[in-house]
Amino acid sequence: MNKDLLERRYKRIYNQLSDLLLKTNDRIARMATIVALLHHKMPHFFWTGFYRIVNGELIVGPYQGPLACQVLEKNKGVCWACINRRETIIVPDVEKFPGHIACDPRSRSEITVPLWEDNKVYGVLDVDSKELNAFCEIDRFWLEKIVKLL
Ligand code: SME
Repeated sequence: MNKDLLERRYKRIYNQLSDLLLKTNDRIARMATIVALLHHKMPHFFWTGFYRIVNGELIVGPYQGPLACQVLEKNKGVCWACINRRETIIVPDVEKFPGHIACDPRSRSEITVPLWEDNKVYGVLDVDSKELNAFCEIDRFWLEKIVKLL
């Protein structure tokens, strides 16, 4: 997708979510709404979902796409790296990311965005693509903005 189209599409999704997420404060409902909309509107999203820290473990939350790992081995892979570094990570080629956890071998690139509450990271939004190098700074900008709606 070209960059103008991507920007416009994120803007529309963001505006739509801003309205939709007023309906409840329930975080699981909000996560489910975010992933449903993103996954169905973004052709480069192959797996779209949340992982939450629960009792020190990283456990899958609402997601769309193929079956995913329910628990991610501690301090391994992209999602844990995002939590430990406290910043968004864009991985152009997952095979080149040491320790990457392959829930589905078709995933080739990935973006992982931290979720913040009271200066603490409580989980991540994780998106995988079947294409190499599928995510750019536009994805980072909008996904960071979208998770603030949680
Ligand atoms: N690739 C992630 C695991 C989650 S799946 O992509 C759905 C990781 O390395 O943490």
